[in-house]
Amino acid sequence: MVVLKVLKTYETTMGNFVLDALRTSTLSIQTSFHEIKVSFGSIKSLLVPWTRSNSNNSSPVISKTKLREDIKEFDESKVGVKGLVDAGITSIPRIFYQPPENLIDSRSLTRTLDIPVIDLAASDRAIVVRQVQEASSKFGFFQLINHGIPLCRMDDVILSIKAFNELETELKSQYYSREGNEKRVLYYGSSLHLNELEGASWNDTLLVALGPEPAESCYVPEVCRMAVAEWDEEMKKLGGALLGLMSEGLGLKREALEEKLCMDARIMAGNYYPHCPQPDLTLGLKSHTDPSIFTLLLSNHVPGLHVKVEGHEWANLVAHPGALVVNIGDVLQIISNDKYRSVEHRVLANSLQEPRISVAVFFNPANDADTYGPLPEITSLDEPARYRDFDLLELRQQMKKEVGVKSLINNCRIGPNLKWRDWNPLRLLQSYVGSSQN
Ligand code: OGA
Ligand code: NI
Repeated sequence: MVVLKVLKTYETTMGNFVLDALRTSTLSIQTSFHEIKVSFGSIKSLLVPWTRSNSNNSSPVISKTKLREDIKEFDESKVGVKGLVDAGITSIPRIFYQPPENLIDSRSLTRTLDIPVIDLAASDRAIVVRQVQEASSKFGFFQLINHGIPLCRMDDVILSIKAFNELETELKSQYYSREGNEKRVLYYGSSLHLNELEGASWNDTLLVALGPEPAESCYVPEVCRMAVAEWDEEMKKLGGALLGLMSEGLGLKREALEEKLCMDARIMAGNYYPHCPQPDLTLGLKSHTDPSIFTLLLSNHVPGLHVKVEGHEWANLVAHPGALVVNIGDVLQIISNDKYRSVEHRVLANSLQEPRISVAVFFNPANDADTYGPLPEITSLDEPARYRDFDLLELRQQMKKEVGVKSLINNCRIGPNLKWRDWNPLRLLQSYVGSSQN
């Protein structure tokens, strides 16, 4: 009787979330009901009736003010998306609902994208260069095998990101922040920027600056300190080798891109995609292109990466075990004057019980004094620069914004909308001089 009374009270105040949990419950769940009530008091209002599935389109419209308040509450709880899952939710809070145009159409779930597999141990460098060049221009994505990184290093870094995300909430929440800080280590639930206009995504992220001013090791969570440092050593080597291949693929000397880009500014994102109870209502990571030179991505065996093929259809990218995925970023598309392509991708919300874990290392330019634009060596009268120059201030501003699709590319593209003051006469001159030297 007492239980029934409790049920009644919560039916009117907290709605179906607790009710659903209790309906399917046994005595032991009534204990967890108390746990939910006590330990998740601060996120209680995220679990009100409008969090029920809108699969029958019956969910009430919710005001922007309410969404804003709920985002604030989610953020202040510092439990991340994993904290919601640990609380035993069966339906996702409304702040995570994606607009219908972002949702997954079922056909794309069965389509698989075969991206080129490049064997870095192949003896003929010219063949490897050609494969990198073709893959970068056709797909914008490829996989590397025989890359020289021992399997145990790959396992270590994935397991260490898992261990961090599975720390006690009190320990983990000490790192919780969305603001850049002098520690250069951030951990946050969902994406870096949350606002009431766009649905939040179903993942938690640990960001660590690896260069040129890396985070001091004492600020990197102890459970992943060693593995992250070792991973960075591998990334530096592999990233440098890859840039050499990409440079030659553009017909330049091996060091040309390295000299121009000085790509010391690496950032690592350890992404944790916990199980999502309603994966058809949200996304693990919203559609975006990376505003990097290129990105090296390692993930565990839980699938989820979705890539936009030929600019319109989505397909699953399943990496070979032990392979690393490379994707071209916006900076390299601009520098290469569209010879290499930065391609849209996203991550599906994880329907499996096991978390998807990925480690993305973004390689970014680091030379503050320089401006960046299509390389004069590869532009000509026939193929004039398609972009104006940008500097690191502009690039950093882009990076601080919400994940977006080709925002840097679109901002810099020379076209009818480019204002006269954006033209850089020196750049134009350089491209003509470059062409006469060819
Ligand atoms: C990213 C990204 C893919 C993944 O972090 O930019 O695209 O599988 N990640 O986590
Ligand atoms: Ni990405």
